[in-house]
Amino acid sequence: MKHLIPEFDALRARFPATFASSLVLPCVRRIQEDRGFVADSDIDELAGYLGVPRVQIEEVLSYYTMFRRKPIGRWHLQMCRNISCSMRGSERLLAHLETSLGIAAGQTTADGRFTLSTVECLGSCGTAPVLVVNETYHENMDTARIDALLKGLD
Ligand code: FES
Repeated sequence: MKHLIPEFDALRARFPATFASSLVLPCVRRIQEDRGFVADSDIDELAGYLGVPRVQIEEVLSYYTMFRRKPIGRWHLQMCRNISCSMRGSERLLAHLETSLGIAAGQTTADGRFTLSTVECLGSCGTAPVLVVNETYHENMDTARIDALLKGLD
């Protein structure tokens, strides 16, 4: 995390001195973007840097489901399971992904290429069902489109 300190310093300069707590969210987001997950050592270092209790960072990490505490696969597949996607077949698509990848939701393939997760509404209900791969939305999905998508991921 130390190499991110100059970025954090620049961010900190934009906030009032007593608002260190407000920096927790953008800092952990940047740490995850950099490392792929937020390690225990990152929490300790960030708590020291910001001068906030460690639990304050833990609270942010446990509240927001997009934060990860351990490494994941190169491709993170997140299938929405909320109402609109569910009504348009996301359970069937999730089962298709599980069969295709040979893993259950919440798991990573043995070769480290794919992690499969379920998520709540992604805010794209009008184009349900939705699958997010890393940061990219794939909408109006069906099994054929999933097969084509998986084939294109190296
Ligand atoms: S329910 Fe899936 S995007 Fe809203």
